Amino acid sequence: MEIVLLQGSPNKKGSTNILVEEFTKGAEASGHNVLRFDVADMNIKPCSGCVACGYEGPCIQKDDNQKIRKAILNADMIVFATPLYYYGMTAQLKTVIDRFCAYNTSINRKHMKSALLTVAWNSDNWTFDALNSHYQTLVRYLDFQDCGSVLGRGCGSSAMTRYSDYPEMAYVLGKSLS
Ligand SMILES: Cc1cc2nc3c(=O)[nH]c(=O)nc-3n(C[C@H](O)[C@H](O)[C@H](O)COP(=O)(O)O)c2cc1C
Repeated sequence: MEIVLLQGSPNKKGSTNILVEEFTKGAEASGHNVLRFDVADMNIKPCSGCVACGYEGPCIQKDDNQKIRKAILNADMIVFATPLYYYGMTAQLKTVIDRFCAYNTSINRKHMKSALLTVAWNSDNWTFDALNSHYQTLVRYLDFQDCGSVLGRGCGSSAMTRYSDYPEMAYVLGKSLS
């Protein structure tokens, strides 16, 4: 399976990265290919809302999002990876998702698989309520088949994350994909 992983943390060596690396090891051990995009490093402008695309067509903005669009349309699965920022995903990841606008129908028709990898400082049991609800709504709207989530509570630094159970959970999620 071809997997596009959208890594939304601007901190490429941080906690999100730990989950991403473990997920990737697991997925590769099961024979999948993971194509990672560190979206915070890419030149991707926010959707301008012009709707020149007609919600399905070429986007007038010729930036790095063209690479992501092409990769997603050739993939079987999207993995969303993000630290929790003010109880949602990072703006960098949301920017890429907003740009789905120009190929929304194509994504919908593909019935792709999806997963969520995320980390947060907070460890309360409600920490991921808003993000998880947003993710589940995207799954429903974009007709994804949800393969699972790793919601890393109490993962405020790389050291906290590395010594938690979440890296192993990310590995197992990747390995479990069929
Ligand atoms: C701008 C910003 C907003 C954050 N918002 C939250 C938050 O709402 N809740 C929380 O528990 N942690 C929050 N955090 C902490 C991060 O989610 C946490 O440190 C995470 O491990 C960072 O992941 P990274 O190392 O991949 O960047 C925030 C951190 C930053 C920099």
